[in-house]
Amino acid sequence: MVDEALAVQLREWRRHLHSHPELSTDEQATAAFVAERLAALGIPFAEGVGGHGVVATLTRPGSDRSVALRADMDALPIPEETNLPYASTRPGVMHACGHDGHTASLLGAAALLLRDPDWRGTVRLVFQPAEEGGGGARAMLADGLLERFPFERIFAFHNWPGLEAGTVMLHRGPVMAAGQRFTITLIGKAGHAALPHLAKDPMVAAAHLLLALQSIVSRNVSPLEAAVVTVGMLEAGNAPNQIPETATMRGTFRTYRKDLHLMIGETIRRIGEGVAATFDMTADVSMTTMGTATINTETEAALAAEAGAAAGLTVRRDLPPSMTGEDFAWYLQQRPGALAWIGNGPNTDGRDLHSPHYDFNDAILPAAATWLAATARAALAG
Ligand code: NI
Repeated sequence: MVDEALAVQLREWRRHLHSHPELSTDEQATAAFVAERLAALGIPFAEGVGGHGVVATLTRPGSDRSVALRADMDALPIPEETNLPYASTRPGVMHACGHDGHTASLLGAAALLLRDPDWRGTVRLVFQPAEEGGGGARAMLADGLLERFPFERIFAFHNWPGLEAGTVMLHRGPVMAAGQRFTITLIGKAGHAALPHLAKDPMVAAAHLLLALQSIVSRNVSPLEAAVVTVGMLEAGNAPNQIPETATMRGTFRTYRKDLHLMIGETIRRIGEGVAATFDMTADVSMTTMGTATINTETEAALAAEAGAAAGLTVRRDLPPSMTGEDFAWYLQQRPGALAWIGNGPNTDGRDLHSPHYDFNDAILPAAATWLAATARAALAG
């Protein structure tokens, strides 16, 4: 149970983190803050795991079962516009995804587990850097997370604006999508706008390519499956009276299924090169993997849902997944586990993730800490 004193402390911690946000891979002060709180609680920890990652260990004899709880710590390059008394003190950097709340909640779960005599085994508290596209999960895994701090299963939550405050949502299967970015550069031949027959116009080819890419999802993916291909940038041209040498488009695609993901990547490449060939030019196609799909394992999602309900929280299992990404997915490639959404309350007035008006809802800190601790206990018992 989170009592009033702990609730006040969690809010203070959360607001301190909110005032002092740090970008991915730069979470030095945040990690130091976490380390100080852990030391004050008397919990042993290791620092510098996969960058500024901190891993704490709570262990009691009597069981060799183990479980990990993970929180992300980084902020975003967004100038805050909330006018809150505890708004960011770092220009251009903001906790606009609520990772301040995730970190405070995990510290709260640590406090709850310390007070609770009714569990045996080992709980790893994983404070992860660089979730926002910085490869933090993979860096921690590459730094020996599983070997140095072994655990059988792993759980985490992301706050969810638009879901009732404090309600815990556990998906069966897909939670968030795999994301990949692509860049296609069409390489033609520059020339005078009035002499197109002497040039190879990448503008016209780009126009065809942009439309052809729209056929990938509509003509290759089953209407019952989820996938999205978006071109978000198109760069070409220097002057109205010139045919440029190149045209470049950049975009992203998202899916939940690996086979679909591979197919879409290959199709983007084939269409890019094929359209270029049609217009007698070449295409340079490159891809960057941003993340893999976050897929809850059935048993662990059910366990986490039951643990939340038994702890008195409202639990839902009925929401569709999101096409956004989460690098918690990389742990789920290695160990069974589940990512919950915990409602952050209404997303009105721009209070959505990655908005300059967003703020983590302090009122959900007790629910989040309670769910994390309850899930760890259930995983050790189950
Ligand atoms: Ni986030």
